[in-house]
Amino acid sequence: MLRRLHPDQPESFAFTEANQTWAEAQIRKYPEGRQASAIIPLLWRAQEQEGWLTRPAIEGVAEMLQMPYIRALEVATFYFMFQLQPVGSVAHVQICGTLSCMICGAEDLMAVCKEKIAAAPHQLSDDGKFSWEEVECLGACANAPMAQIGKDYYEDLTTESLSRLLDEMAEGNVPAPGPQNGRYASEPGSGLTSLTAHGEDRVPANASVTLATDIGDTLKRIDGTEVPFRAPWDRRADEPAGPETPGDAVEEQAPGAQPERDDDSPGQPVDVVNQPIAERVPASAEAEEATGGDEGTVGPTPEVEPERMDAPRDDQADDLTQIRGVGPGIAGQLNELGIYHFSQIGAWGAEEIAWIDARLSFRGRVERDQWVEQAQMLMKGESPE
Ligand code: FES
Repeated sequence: MLRRLHPDQPESFAFTEANQTWAEAQIRKYPEGRQASAIIPLLWRAQEQEGWLTRPAIEGVAEMLQMPYIRALEVATFYFMFQLQPVGSVAHVQICGTLSCMICGAEDLMAVCKEKIAAAPHQLSDDGKFSWEEVECLGACANAPMAQIGKDYYEDLTTESLSRLLDEMAEGNVPAPGPQNGRYASEPGSGLTSLTAHGEDRVPANASVTLATDIGDTLKRIDGTEVPFRAPWDRRADEPAGPETPGDAVEEQAPGAQPERDDDSPGQPVDVVNQPIAERVPASAEAEEATGGDEGTVGPTPEVEPERMDAPRDDQADDLTQIRGVGPGIAGQLNELGIYHFSQIGAWGAEEIAWIDARLSFRGRVERDQWVEQAQMLMKGESPE
C-alpha cells in the first residue's frame, strides 16, 4: 500500500510548550551528532498532539533534529503506526488482518467497521468520531481476532462485541480492553490445563488490562500528564543521584509506552472497577473471613478511616497526579473515596494507609512510593521530583 502525505495539510506546526520541553529532553538523551535518534519519539508525540502526522509536523521535527526533510519523511511514511491522514476524534480502529485473526473472523470485524464507521479504510465516519484500517499482525495471535483501538488491545472479538465496543466509545465511555470473551489472558479457551492454581495475590484482570484501567489513557492522546516528566539523563555528573526509590528507576516513558509496572502494583478487575469503590469488600476483610479471624496470628495493620470529604474544598481539588505513582485512574479512585487534597494524604499514618490499601488493593504502594512524604512536599510547594 502506498503511504502518501494527505493532500490537505495545515499551514504550520508547533509543539505545545510542555511537549517542546519534553522533546528537547529526548534530544539530549543522545550523544552530540546523534540527535536524529530521537526522531520516532518526536514524531509520535507530534502525532499525539495533532491526532495525525502532518507535513509541517514532520518537517518541524526534522528541523529540530537537523535532518534533511526527506529522512524524516522516510521514517514517517515507512511505519504504519504513523497516521498520515486525519483519524477519528474518538478512536482509530486497527483490525488485525493477518493469518490467525483472518482465520478467526477478521473479515467479519472489518465488515462491522465498514458498516458502522466508513466503507473504506482511512475514511472518517460521518460524525468524525471513528476511522479504521486493516493492519498486520499485532502480536496477540493467541487472542484472535483482535483489534487495537486507541492504545490498547481488544481481543477475542466477535462482530457483536466489536459493535458494542464502538457504541460504548461513541457514547464517551472507555470499555476495558483485553479479552472480550471472559478469558483472563491467552490461556486455552476451554480453561487451564496446567499450573491450574492461582496465587492468592492474583488480580482478577490481567496486568495489561489493569494497567490500562489504572492509567486511563486507552483512548486519550498522550499529552505528558499521564506520568511525571523526568529526565534523569539531564542530571549533571557532579550532582548526587539522590535517594533510591522505586521511582528513581523509572525514566520518562517513551511516547506511546506505558510505565513499568510491578506485579503487585495496584489494579482492579474489570468487574470491580465498575463497582463503586466504597462498596468494595476490603481485601483484609476477605482474608479475615477466610481464616475465621484466628486470634494469635500476626494480622494486618489495623485500619483507621482517614479524613474523607464529600467534595473538594472550594470546589478545587488538588492535582493528585503530581504524586509519583498516582495516575489519572488512581486519582479518580481516590476522589471517589473522598480524597481530594494533598493535606488529606499528608496526614495519613500507617492505619489510614491500611484502610486505603484495603479498598484500592494497593498492597503497599502508598508506602513504597512515599505518597505521604510526597504530599507533604507538595503542600509546601516543593516538587517531589
Ligand atoms: S494474526 Fe492477528 S495478532 Fe497476530
